[in-house]
Parts: sequence; C-alpha cells; structure tokens
Amino acid sequence: MEFKNYIGGKWQPGRAGLTFDAVNPANEEILAQIQAADVADVEAAVQSAKQAFKAWRLTPAPLRGEILYRIGELLKVRKEELARLLTQDMGKVIAEARGDVQEAIDMAFYMGGEGRRLLGYTAPVEMPNKFGMAVRDPSGVVGIITPWNFPIAVPSWKIFPALVAGNTVIWKPSPETPAISAAFVKVFEEAGLPAGVINLLLAPGAEVGKALVSHPDVRVISFTGSTGTGRAIAESAAKLNKKVSLEMGGKNAILVLDDANLDLVVDASLWAAFGTSGQRCTAASRLIVQKGIAPKVKEALVARTKELRLGDGLDPKVDVGPVINKVALERIHGFVEIGQKEGARLLIGGGKADVGGKGFFYQPTLFDGVLPGTTLEREEVFGPVLSIIEVDSLEEAIEVNNRSQYGLSTSLFTQDVNQAFTAMRDIASGLMYVNHGTTGAEIQFPFGGVRGTGNGHREAGQTALDIFTEWKSIYVDYSGTLQRAQIDNRPQE
Ligand code: UN1
Repeated sequence: MEFKNYIGGKWQPGRAGLTFDAVNPANEEILAQIQAADVADVEAAVQSAKQAFKAWRLTPAPLRGEILYRIGELLKVRKEELARLLTQDMGKVIAEARGDVQEAIDMAFYMGGEGRRLLGYTAPVEMPNKFGMAVRDPSGVVGIITPWNFPIAVPSWKIFPALVAGNTVIWKPSPETPAISAAFVKVFEEAGLPAGVINLLLAPGAEVGKALVSHPDVRVISFTGSTGTGRAIAESAAKLNKKVSLEMGGKNAILVLDDANLDLVVDASLWAAFGTSGQRCTAASRLIVQKGIAPKVKEALVARTKELRLGDGLDPKVDVGPVINKVALERIHGFVEIGQKEGARLLIGGGKADVGGKGFFYQPTLFDGVLPGTTLEREEVFGPVLSIIEVDSLEEAIEVNNRSQYGLSTSLFTQDVNQAFTAMRDIASGLMYVNHGTTGAEIQFPFGGVRGTGNGHREAGQTALDIFTEWKSIYVDYSGTLQRAQIDNRPQE
C-alpha cells in the first residue's frame, strides 16, 4: 500500500520527495509506504485552504451538514474495512477499532445536524426600533494535530465541527497512523467535499506541525497529545494571537468504596486500565481503593489479569493488543522499573511480553502500595500499568484524585447515593463516571479536562463549536435617528 498527502483536492507526494513507513505494531511488518509532506507542503495546504474558505463559508450550513451526513453514511458502509486497517496501523483490538470508527459516525451525524442549528441568539435591546443578535462566524483556516491512539475518533471530534461551522481544515495526523488517516480522508473526498476544504499532511518529525502552528494564516490550532507538546504549541501560537484548544495528559483514577459491587469494579477496572493497552487519554492508571474492600479487589484483579490474552488485534479472541512502537515499549518498562525502585510492589506483569517473538507487547501490570508523590502516582504512563493506592475514606480518595497535575477522567464505585453525590460535587475532573470506568465518553457531551490536561476548551458536544467559531454581535438600528446606547433611553438623568 502507498499513501500520499491530500492538498487542494489532489493526492500528492511531498515536495521534498521523502518517504516513511507505516509499521504494524503487532508484527513489525511494513503496512504501507507514505509520501512525506514537508514545510513547503504546509504553505501549499494553507493556500488551498484559504482559497477554498471563500466558497465554503458561504455554502449554506445545512448543505455543509448534508456532506457530513454523506460522510457518516460512507463510514457506516466502510466500518469493517476501516476498523481492520486501523487495527493494523496502530494495534488496538478489532472490537475497539470498530468503536473508534463508530465514534466518528456518531460525530458525523451529530455535527451534520448542527448544519441546521449552529445556534446564535437574540436578546432584547435597550433602544426602540433596534435589533440585536449574536451569530457564529467560522474562524477561517484551522490546523488540526492529532495522536495515534484514536486515529479516527479524535480527528472526527475536531474536523466535523470545524467543517460544519464553515472552516477549512489542514489536518496533520500522527506519523504512527498515516494509513488509516489517508483512508479516512478518502471518505471525505468520496462524499463530495469540495477541493481544499480538507487537506491532509502526512509527515514524521515535528517540522510540519511547527510550520502549521506558526503560520499566520492558520487561525485556530486544535491539538490532542502530550502536555509538553501542547504547551509548546500554545507558546508559539500566542505570538500570533491564535486560538488554541489543547487536550493533553491524564492520570485518571477509579475510586472504589467499601460498599462497591466487586465484580463490576473488576470488570470495569480491567477494561479502563488495559483496553487499548492503556493508551487512552482516559485510561485508568490509578485505582484508589478503600481499605476494607482492597484485599478482595486485588485478589480478583490479579486472577483476571492472568487470563487476559495478548496478541494481534485482528484475532477476535485477543483482549490486549500491542503498544504503538518500540520507544513506547521501552518508556513503559522504564516506568515499571522506577516504580519498583520507589518501593511499589509488583502484583503481576512488569515486563515485555513475548508473542511469537514479534510485535511490541507489554504485560498488563498491577502495582500495589504506590506511595504519594512517587512517579507511578504522578506521571502518565500511557501503557497497561495500573497503580493501586489504598485510602481510608471517600474524602481521602477525592483528595488523592484531585492532587494530580492532570484532571481528565475520574470514576467512583459505590452503592451509596449520598457518597456518589458528594463525589460528583467535589471531584475536580472534566469527566466523571459513577459505577463505570474512566473510559467511554459519548460525543454529545463536552470532552476535556482541568489542570494540566487542557486549557479550558471542551471538544465534542455543543462546546466543540466554540473552538471553531468566533462570536459576532450585530446591532441593527432601524429608527432612522441617532440613538446613543446607555444614554438616550434615560433622558431624565
Ligand atoms: C482518547 O483517549 O484520546 O472516552 C479519547 C473514551 C473514548 C475516547 C478517548 N471515547 O475513552
């Protein structure tokens, strides 16, 4: 297979003529060869997006929405094919890959519907014969930089609201998932999206992303990825007064109280911690458990973790796929070694897994006795490693949760409605679940986190539109006279 960049409605090799490989992390085989974009292609993409913006912003929003519906229909038809390619490109098991595509289908229809809403508002004005309204304007050319862990879902959270609002897009996906990214854009092309409205740049390294962020004609940057990169983007974009929406690290926690349903806790923890091999920004990496139930939770978790089957995600019997690449494998193992040095007790796992001598597999790993302030308690591992921390009470559990530098997703297991509502009030995270793990957000609600996870924006839901639109307040005075606001409606003063 070979994939190219998509600029101005044409599939093209990069101007520098460089290539790189897409590698299947389950078997280390080359999945596809990619024609790499470089900095000169950023300029070409910006010019094509600027040109396309002129007509796209004037295309009635309901018609823009109808193209999204067509994309949604095509994604439904292609769901299995895309899911299989996605699994080969980044490793997640096939059931999860189908979910990844489904999330984009859901978002296509949700944002397609926005074509007939994109609601602004009117409010009474203080003068007679005058009208006031606030409307949403598209921002212009937007730059979208996405990670490999949800190569269809996360881009769809950004691209669909951007398009329905009338923006044109330059998308730079992770170089780890170029094949599925190009296959996704082919669907847009087939759905009849006009040339230049979406542009795709496939590139290794940081140069192309940096050029996009520092280009004066790209007005919004929406980024999901590491906290370090996100901060660097924000700093660079601040010089040009760009709007930047950041979705970054997490250190998500499952809180378990003594009265919790044990079987449910175990099912949910395995799914949230080891699903996508722990490589979700919403993955649970801390299990903060009340002392009374802790021994039973640990025993059951160890037993069930032993049963997890590792392997190629295309095999439907496999529970846990590989991690993305060798660097990730080493990084995860580095965290495990530090955890042991810092006094945490390994309950199970803790090493690379041999799956037929190929692929980047890591054993699902459980640590007990993880102490406050240690690396495993604080840092995002982004791999299948769950750290157990024991506490005396809900209050202590909330305190441990909230002291994290990140604040994306927290879940609580209890049967006690009073405890649940207390936690719903006091948990400081962007997402919260009661009696469900930390993953599984649905597209109709705001998605994002507090503290080091984000910068105040929320993707998905109605809030996604705030990222990709500028409010314009319009006053129409039809009195035919000069009516001075704040002054002429109070002549007695
Ligand atoms: C991510 O890990 O970047 O809530 C996104 C979830 C998924 C999305 C995760 N719907 O786990």
